[in-house]
Amino acid sequence: MDQHVAEAIGRPDLIRLDDRLLCLRFETMKVVSALAAVRHLLDTGVVRRGDTLLDSSSGIYAYALALACHRHGMRCHIVGSTTVDHTLRTQLAVLGATLEQMEPSSDLKLDQKRRVERIHEILAAHPEYHWMRQYHDDIHYLGYRAIADRVHEETGGARLTVVGGVGSGASTGALTRYLRDRDARTPRGAAGDVDLVGVQPFGSLTFGAQHTSDPEIIIAGIGSSIPFGNVSHELYDTLHWISFDAALAGAVDLLRRHALFAGLSTGAAYLAARHERERRPGRTVLFIAPDTGHRYVDTVFARHDEAAPLGHFTPQDIADQTELTLPWSRMPWNRRSHPPRESTSMESLTT
Ligand SMILES: Cc1ncc(COP(=O)(O)O)c(C=O)c1O
Repeated sequence: MDQHVAEAIGRPDLIRLDDRLLCLRFETMKVVSALAAVRHLLDTGVVRRGDTLLDSSSGIYAYALALACHRHGMRCHIVGSTTVDHTLRTQLAVLGATLEQMEPSSDLKLDQKRRVERIHEILAAHPEYHWMRQYHDDIHYLGYRAIADRVHEETGGARLTVVGGVGSGASTGALTRYLRDRDARTPRGAAGDVDLVGVQPFGSLTFGAQHTSDPEIIIAGIGSSIPFGNVSHELYDTLHWISFDAALAGAVDLLRRHALFAGLSTGAAYLAARHERERRPGRTVLFIAPDTGHRYVDTVFARHDEAAPLGHFTPQDIADQTELTLPWSRMPWNRRSHPPRESTSMESLTT
């Protein structure tokens, strides 16, 4: 029996959509990651019960950290982006977490930059606060080990392609790292049998697409305008850049075809996963669904009549980022270890 609701929420569902397409479905991803991260900080004496944990979030991590703080008797302070909605604001307030929300902005870069600046101001005033640095501190990988073990057991060691949106990089990176570790340790397995496909919005710097932009809107939770230490570039085999319109069509199709109600980054991952499934017979494709569709009722699902059929979209195969084209581009990454040239300087944002 679980000792706290965070443990139940952190456990994802593993759903077979067809013979070679699986969905790892979270109600709210990152709860398991935040729980393990906070437990690690307590166990190693970096923080003590009652201390204040601080971070910036577009929503999902805020909720996860608030639950982990509730579980472990910590205080929680969040600098939230404009994508933190009324439901989440209200829950955070009742949970006892404090939230500072940035002014509305459709500019991802500005929004992230302002949040990081605000964190530095808060730390200057409260040096005793602990900054969780979900984008940079790899303690956020730890919680995904148990999920990787479960995926490994339930898929019977099938040759897997993992597909997921890349924000901090922790979920896709950790799952794949731990799955490859498991593979390396099983007699019939071979390290590298797990392929990793990352999904990005246009405009994201993480894999070098900062010169492009999506006219419609940002996809909450994925992409970045600043370099993130938790993205392990060398884990990714393939990248997909997917526009808002295509992600919307994916999210609507996923609900129509499979009755699975999930958010926009899931819609994008589903589209990429279906493509990889067709492209690579012999592999089972597992895509990550990090949140439910509730936040997207007005912006996505109410527009279901506008959703183009999935057949309307095919990715443009590109060799490098100069060829990036909306609505959808696909590029081999081949586990290159280096980040794109523009992101080699980590500036003061990583500190
Ligand atoms: C909706 C959504 N999808 C995908 C992601 C990406 O997850 P990660 O930060 O583990 O890369 C996030 C992260 O916040 C998210 O909120």
